[in-house]
Amino acid sequence: MAGVTLTDIHKSFGKNEVIHGIDCDIKDGEFIVILGPSGCGKSTLLRMIAGLEKISAGQVAIDGRVVNNMEPADRDVAMVFQNYALYPHMTVFNNMAYGLKIRRMPKAEIEERVHNAARILELTDLLERKPRQLSGGQRQRVAMGRCIVREPKVFLFDEPLSNLDAKLRVQMRLEIRKLHEDLNITSIYVTHDQVEAMTLGDRLIVMDEGSAAQIGSPLEVYERPATRFVAGFIGSPAMNFLEARISDDARCLALGSDDSLPLPDDAPAGRAGRDVILGIRPEHFEVTQQDKGLIQFTVNHVEILGADTLVYGHFGRRKIDLTLRLPDIHNFVKDTSLSLSVAPDKLHLFDPQTRQRITC
Ligand SMILES: Nc1ncnc2c1ncn2[C@@H]1O[C@H](COP(=O)(O)OP(=O)(O)OP(=O)(O)O)[C@@H](O)[C@H]1O
Ligand SMILES: [Mg+2]
Repeated sequence: MAGVTLTDIHKSFGKNEVIHGIDCDIKDGEFIVILGPSGCGKSTLLRMIAGLEKISAGQVAIDGRVVNNMEPADRDVAMVFQNYALYPHMTVFNNMAYGLKIRRMPKAEIEERVHNAARILELTDLLERKPRQLSGGQRQRVAMGRCIVREPKVFLFDEPLSNLDAKLRVQMRLEIRKLHEDLNITSIYVTHDQVEAMTLGDRLIVMDEGSAAQIGSPLEVYERPATRFVAGFIGSPAMNFLEARISDDARCLALGSDDSLPLPDDAPAGRAGRDVILGIRPEHFEVTQQDKGLIQFTVNHVEILGADTLVYGHFGRRKIDLTLRLPDIHNFVKDTSLSLSVAPDKLHLFDPQTRQRITC
């Protein structure tokens, strides 16, 4: 087991820099998720840690040793890919044993390691089958077994569940988490799926175009997103963003000419009279008695999900769109008026220029 330290990591392909300086101290036994949209550099960062991609500048250290110039095989990491690429002509046992055989490990030890991994992954009864005789989830477990038998210091996962159907993904997600709790091997897991990230990660690295927009626990990232990008990327349905202005006395936010919301006590007084981007998550609106709320909202249409209802509509003279997520079932017809309030501590403010969070 080992920690992984990334220090000012850069990557360029030719003249095109795609990773712009990432720092992160990953603790021994930690489960880190690299989350971000397609093309933001997740796989490139992971591949540099694995040694499959040259590091343009900066340092990767595993267990305190700089590995920049070390071959992948010497780094003591094991990687599970999206396309798990099992050898089709080999049994499950041989697929798992193959990497150990080419390292000339004694037969008895190979047997012990494979059986041990098979037990953990509940593959014991399937060891003599070929990959084509397995389900997608079972194949993915064999791919993980191949990594476990190597007893690496670090596990690297690149979107390992993206070939599986939705139900199996949920099941495998739980299995990966359980595996981590059992083995406690430092793990770095790439995904663009925020639910996977929130449920698996001890901490997330949220990437935005080659930079780490925020590094923090899932709750920190949800409750205090550091940038407008992170705020919009985490949460489903996405956060509502509104143009607003902090009043001259810094007590409230003006939303156009008709509506306003009170600001929390620790609101940034220095920004009185300034424009901001206001973020409100759909789940943080409350329906109050008519005329007691601060936003007069008009329903457009609803989607009843069972446990809760998504309500789409608008407010104000400029008919600004809002999405609400209300608990329980609501059969609002079109044009129903709702009076809404939001707790001041659920308001997120961002600078319209820098797009960084403004404290509060
Ligand atoms: N070998 C390469 N040569 C040139 N550019 C590359 C190469 N590999 C990746 N890139 C570019 O680097 C950027 C990051 O790619 P990367 O594969 O790391 O993204 P990603 O976040 O893993 O995306 P996805 O979610 O689609 O897998 C992209 O703009 C991509 O086009
Ligand atoms: Mg990728």
